[in-house]
This record gives sequence, C-alpha cells and structure tokens, in this order.
Amino acid sequence: MCGLSFFILILLLCTISPPKLLATGARDVLAPAQAITGNQTLVSAGGTFVLGFFDSRSESFGRKNRFLGIWYKKIPKRTVVWVANRDHPVTDSAAFLTMTEDKNIAVVDSNRSFVWSSDLAGIANGTVAMLLESGNLVLRQGNGQDVWQSFDHPTDTILPEMKLRYNEKTGLAQRVIAWREVDDPSSGDFSVGPIYDQIVIWRRSETYFRISQKSVLGLQVSSTSGVQCVVWVSRVGDEFSFSFFIVGRTAPVRWALEASGELKMMVWVEAWSEWHPFWIRPSRFCDAYNLCGPSGACDCNAKPPTCICLHGFVPKNQTEWETRTFSSGCVRRVQLQCSKNDKFLPVKRAKLPDRSRMIDKKTELDCRDDCISKCQCTAYAYTSTSVHSDGSMCLIWYGDLIDLEIDHNIYWENLNIRLVASEFDENQKPMKFLLPVVAIGALLVGAGSYFLVKRLRSRARKRTPMKTMILEDVDLSDTFGRDKGFSEVPLVEFNSVQCATGDFSDANKLGEGGFGSVYKGKLGNGHEIAVKRLSRGSKQGHHEFANEVRLIARLQHKNLVRLLGWCTDQDEKILIYEYMPNKSLDKLVFARSVELSWEKRLTIIMGIADGLLYLHHHSRMRVIHRDLKTSNILLDNEMNPKISDFGLARIFEINQTEGNTRKIVGTFGYMSPEYAIDGVFSEKSDVFSFGVIVLEVISGKRCTGYYPCRESLNLLGYAWQLWKEGRAMELLDRAIKRSFQADEVLKCIQVGLLCIEENPADRPTMNFVVSILTSESCALPLPKQPGFSFGRNLRVRADRSPRSSIYGLSESTLEGR
Ligand SMILES: *[C@@H]1O[C@H](CO)[C@@H](O)[C@H](O)[C@H]1NC(C)=O
Ligand SMILES: *[C@@H]1O[C@H](CO)[C@@H](O)[C@H](O)[C@H]1NC(C)=O
Ligand SMILES: *[C@@H]1O[C@H](CO)[C@@H](O)[C@H](O)[C@H]1NC(C)=O
Ligand SMILES: *[C@@H]1O[C@H](CO)[C@@H](O)[C@H](O)[C@H]1NC(C)=O
Repeated sequence: MCGLSFFILILLLCTISPPKLLATGARDVLAPAQAITGNQTLVSAGGTFVLGFFDSRSESFGRKNRFLGIWYKKIPKRTVVWVANRDHPVTDSAAFLTMTEDKNIAVVDSNRSFVWSSDLAGIANGTVAMLLESGNLVLRQGNGQDVWQSFDHPTDTILPEMKLRYNEKTGLAQRVIAWREVDDPSSGDFSVGPIYDQIVIWRRSETYFRISQKSVLGLQVSSTSGVQCVVWVSRVGDEFSFSFFIVGRTAPVRWALEASGELKMMVWVEAWSEWHPFWIRPSRFCDAYNLCGPSGACDCNAKPPTCICLHGFVPKNQTEWETRTFSSGCVRRVQLQCSKNDKFLPVKRAKLPDRSRMIDKKTELDCRDDCISKCQCTAYAYTSTSVHSDGSMCLIWYGDLIDLEIDHNIYWENLNIRLVASEFDENQKPMKFLLPVVAIGALLVGAGSYFLVKRLRSRARKRTPMKTMILEDVDLSDTFGRDKGFSEVPLVEFNSVQCATGDFSDANKLGEGGFGSVYKGKLGNGHEIAVKRLSRGSKQGHHEFANEVRLIARLQHKNLVRLLGWCTDQDEKILIYEYMPNKSLDKLVFARSVELSWEKRLTIIMGIADGLLYLHHHSRMRVIHRDLKTSNILLDNEMNPKISDFGLARIFEINQTEGNTRKIVGTFGYMSPEYAIDGVFSEKSDVFSFGVIVLEVISGKRCTGYYPCRESLNLLGYAWQLWKEGRAMELLDRAIKRSFQADEVLKCIQVGLLCIEENPADRPTMNFVVSILTSESCALPLPKQPGFSFGRNLRVRADRSPRSSIYGLSESTLEGR
C-alpha cells in the first residue's frame, strides 16, 4: 500500500489547491477539496466513531507523532481502531486530511507532501469520503458503491462486520498487525490472519499460535455483559472470509491483536468503564506453538498441564522430558516401514496438527487409503468443515506431527495416527496369554478378600456396632454437637439417600468438585441436605473409609461445613452435609449480582482464616485441605463462610504424612508452585491457596480465567505489579461503593501477597495470618515476588528463610494451646 507508489503520487499531485477547512460541527462526509486538521473530526451519523488526528508517544527527538485514526466517540479512554499512517507519522500540527482532485483521500503535511493516501486510480466524479457507523471509512461513489474502505486495510482491530480474507488460489491473506507498543501504533512484531480453516498468529515470520476456525466459530458470549458474538466463515469462489457480528444486546465489541501478541475479544463495560476481554488466545499452557516438540501432544486437562507421548511413541530424550523440557518431542517406538498393513490410532477430540495437506477424497475410507498408499503419510483426519464446498475434507500429514493438542473441552476433531500393526498386537497377544493366569489370580484374590472383608466386618462389628439409620432420623438441628461428644455421625441407609436425591438425578446436582459430585437432597419432613457422592478414585476399603469419616466428623468449627451422616454401598462412598442456601463464595464474588461490601469481604476472609487455622493447628489432627478455592467456601444464611471438602484428601491419599504424592488433587490456579510441579505439599500449600482466595475476594477477579498463563500477568502477577508500583489500592473491586478503610484493605493485600510467596518457608502460618488480621497494628514483613510464574524457578528451596523466625515466634506463642 505504501512505499514507492505514493511517493510517485506526490510528484503527480504536487499542484493541489489549498484545501478549504471543514466548519466545526458533527459531519460524516468529506467532499473534494475539503480537509480536516488539528482537532477537527468527522463523526459517523449515529455518533459512534470519530475520524481525526491524535498524538501518540513522543519519539526520542522529543517531538509528538501525529496519526490519522478512527476511535470511539463515546468511550472516555481513547480506543483507536484504525490508523491510516501508522508507519509514517507526521510531526507538525498543520498536517491535514483532504480529498484530492482525483478523489483519493490523503494525509498531507505542511510542506504539501503526501504522507499517506488511499492511492487508487480512476475514481469517478461525485465520490466522497464517508465515516460509517460501523467504524468503516469508505470512498463512496455517487451510485452508492464503495471503491475503497478502511476495513480492507486493517491495523490491529477487527470490528463487527469487518471481513478478514484469505484467497485459496493466490495464497494472499489479509493480516491484522499489532501495534509496536501500547502507545506506538507503528507495525509491531505480531500479526494475525486466516489461512484456510485456521487462524494463525505470527511473530515476525514464525508461527506463534494457531487455532482452527471451528474452535472459534459459533457463539462467543461475554458472561459479564451478556453480549453475544457470532463468529463465522463464508466462502465465495476462492475467497474465504472470516468475520463476526453481534446479536441481541449490543455494546461496543472489538477484537484486537495487542502488542503482546494476544488476540482478545473485548466488550466495553459501561459500569466499570473498561474493556473487558472475554476470549483470549494464546492464554493456556498448551497454546504455545509446538510446545511439545515433534510428535508430542499437549494435554491441558492434566494437572498441571503437560506434554505426553501418545501410544506407540516415547520421549526422544527421557532425561529432558522428566524435567519438563519438552522441545525435543517424541519418537516412534517402531519406525514405519511403509506397509499396507499399518493401522491407525484414533485420537479423539484433538487440535489437529499444523501443516496438513488437503486432499480431494469423498469418503473417510478413501482418505484413509490415500494415507496408506503414501509412504510419507503419518496421519489423516476426515473432518467436517464449513470452508470446503462439500462440507467435509480429507487432511493428511507428512512427517512429524507438529502442535498437536488433546483437549476434550475445546477441540472436537478426530485424528488418526499411522502406526505399525505390531503396536496394536502387543496389547492383545499378552492379554490372551495372560487371561487364564489373571482369571485364576482374580479368583484367589476374590476368595481371599471375601474372607478378609468378612473378618474385618466382624471385627468392626465387635468393636463398634454400626447401626444404619434412615436419613429422616438424622439429627439436623443447628448445634455443633460438641456436648453430644464426637463420633456420633450416623451411618445412613443407601436407599434413603437415593430417595432424597431422586436417585442422584441431574436436576438435583449442585456441582462437581475434585472429589466427586454434590447433590441436593430433600427429606420427607422438608429438611434439605447436601449429598456428596465421592468419585471412584478412592482406593480405600469400607473399613478405612469408616475410620476416616469418624475423624472428619470430629472436625467441628463454625467455619466448617457440618457433616451430618455418611453412607456406603458397594463401591459408593457418600457423605451427607448440612445444606447451604447461599451457594458458594465464587458465585457471590464473581457474579456481581449483589454488592458485597468491604466489611462483609473482610468478615469472609477472617472466617476462612479461622477455619483453616482450626484445620491446621487446633483440631485434634493436622488436616491439610489441599483443594481450597472460592468455590469450596460455602455461605450460610448470615453470609458466614464455611469451608467444605476438608479432610477428603485423606480419603484419596493414604500415605499423606510423607508430604509427597504422585497423584495431585487440587485446582489449577490455587495450587502452590511446589505442589503443582513437584507434588510436594504442606500446610503452606493451603496457605498459598488462601492467599489466592484473599486476592480474589478483594479484587472480585478470578485468579485464572482470562489472564494468559504463560505470561506473568495472572491475578497474582497483577497484584504484585500494582503493589510494587505503590498502586495496590487499584486492586480493590470497583464494585465496592460504600466506605472502607484503606489501611485494612492494604493489610489484607499484603497478607495475600505474603501467602503466595514462591518459597513455602517464606509464607506465614495461619496462626500468623489470623493474629495479623485480628490485631490493630502489627509490623508485617514485605512481600517478595509471588510464586505465580508457572514453570520458572520453581525448584523448592530447602533452606528456611531467616525471616521464618518471625513466624516461629508467633507459632510458639500460639501453639501451646
Ligand atoms: C480545538 O482547537 C482550538 C484551537 O487550538 C481550540 O480553541 C478549541 O477549543 C479546540 N476544540 C476542541 C473541541 O477541543
Ligand atoms: C519541510 O521542508 C523543509 C525544507 O525542505 C524541511 O526543513 C522541513 O523539515 C519540512 N517539514 C516537514 C514537516 O517535513
Ligand atoms: C471528472 O470531471 C472532470 C471535469 O469536470 C473531467 O475532466 C474528468 O475527466 C472527470 N473524471 C472522471 C473519472 O470521470
Ligand atoms: C538429553 O538431554 C540432556 C540434557 O539436555 C543431554 O545432556 C543428553 O545428552 C541428551 N541425551 C540424548 C540421548 O540426546
């Protein structure tokens, strides 16, 4: 567009007459020989967009750079959606935009040289420039046809109705190019555009991220504003075009590729006076392009997300793989021999690898046969598509599979990976061979365990007679049962639980957590209960389970959910809790349906701290929760927080005092680095989760969600950034309208930051947290960089920080109880 061509234009048009300046006032049309300069603007008919000059970022010369751009008129924070002369700024304030005699629009500086032009030949007389309500600047002929539009020359923003095109024949793709920096509109390193059925982000010329359009197509809904965007692809001849529009409620929505390389779909939320992103890529661990190396697969549902080698593949370098260095990828256990007998491993719901070739085959079988017939072919996919004329397409891959991901929640395409036939026999032959042995073994084990169970049962009976009750008879009164003594939690008949929950019907399901599903139950007498049906992951027998329940039942505190009863039946393990009508803390903090005052937030934080202190130090046994998160905090009628799911980690991990476990229970985002990476846990991992909750409650923002997990800026990073810059108060939820004490807020933020420090030894104990929160003034240590930077410097240091002496003091004073 720019470059030589319009400098030639300069020579041709150097005799333009001095432009007539526009009279001030709202106008959306620029006619021949008119101009705008200084702070004059064109305004679209409905007053949504403005075209004018803006200053941005002074260069090192100390001069202001001026750009001609389009931005939203009504949005106070100027949001520029298009820039004409992004790479050719003007520096004098006398520069103007005009329509030249040949009906092109051009930015001209005070020396009458052209800085930017629409650069078309042969535009009809009677053509004017017009700024449309959609934010599109067009050259409109007398007959209503547009010969040029800014939508065809995007900068960093895609607006509703704008189309991004890709031409199959010429290979030409329109690209949206990010700004160099937040305040510098010149072309940056990142660009995004469509290629066939993919959307690709490049960093300079390298692929940075890619996604199939299918994964973006359809409805994207902003939960905060309710705005719905329909994203779609259409095809006319060789040309694919990718666009989106808004249905129903409208609010300004834009897609922008930010200078950081993130593609964000954002909606303007009037109430917060900010752009709220509701779709961001890349944002997940697995979004990094080719993270798992050749033929590696990324599994984002694993906790923590990780790379895996699929069946038939092994890590190329086992030592590297074990230290989470995945770049060398996976290799085949058995090399392909280009045999017609090769078989295909189906990989369900995958993000298809990069560099596919589209083959013209009509059926899945033809597609498969085509792959078999080509020696280099390593995989095929037969997939439905909106971009191919007959609705489905055959894709094949040669060589290594690059950038493959398995995520059942996001992707839904099936990939078939070619393997030598023996990879499939291996599983079957030994099976056949083993069958009799297994059968006999099972018989022996079965018989043995039958007698064992019988013995255990009779022993258990002898020791503590277990009487089953029906749910109706369970004491639901609101007392804590301290006076009644412990271990009185009744065993309940499975049938009565089934009955109360409508046989665990989906209609009664309240939610699903790491340990199982929760159902609402209703008894004949109208009482409501919550029923936790533990998932089958628990390896415990009934006897151990019974013991565990007795221990859990002893944990009684005003900030813990009360256990009313329990139940087992075959492989069912069920716990019955009091029902909490006010749902969970996450619904309250993030939903924004009710205003949650600062006082209430502080009470909630203190309540959680009290409950956790009890679990860690004051209960008869030391209990580490291991899955503490806002959705595990329930609220009673008076909005008092009650921790749920405590003690369950004990049922799922027996040998937990070792503090080291392979299977990790927990929720990503709340897990401390040492737990997420190395599976090492202690009270301090709960303290970390507590810190995350504190920051969430203060800010009203989720710790994960739309923050990119590969960059440092999640909520924790954001909080730390603000703290470092002395702007910590900006973390406070804007929804808090009523009064609050700034020093209380700051103290809580500081406690939150101390709790999320990277080194567990640097984190305070709950003793210390509670004493800080309840005391008027107390010298707090200064927080250090938190352990949010997943994947970096995460080796746990064995040394105890000298600062732990501070905590040591408070520990010894309080622990004597
Ligand atoms: C535009 O600039 C002129 C002169 O610099 C100034 O007098 C006027 O107030 C400005 N108008 C607006 C709307 O800012
Ligand atoms: C205009 O031309 C003069 C002389 O060639 C030059 O010194 C000046 O920098 C030019 N101004 C701009 C804005 O380019
Ligand atoms: C526009 O009008 C001028 C004179 O009115 C004429 O010389 C010129 O050829 C016309 N241009 C086009 C493209 O029709
Ligand atoms: C595996 O990686 C380690 C560390 O990068 C390196 O020292 C070693 O030589 C590699 N082994 C092989 C077989 O490539």
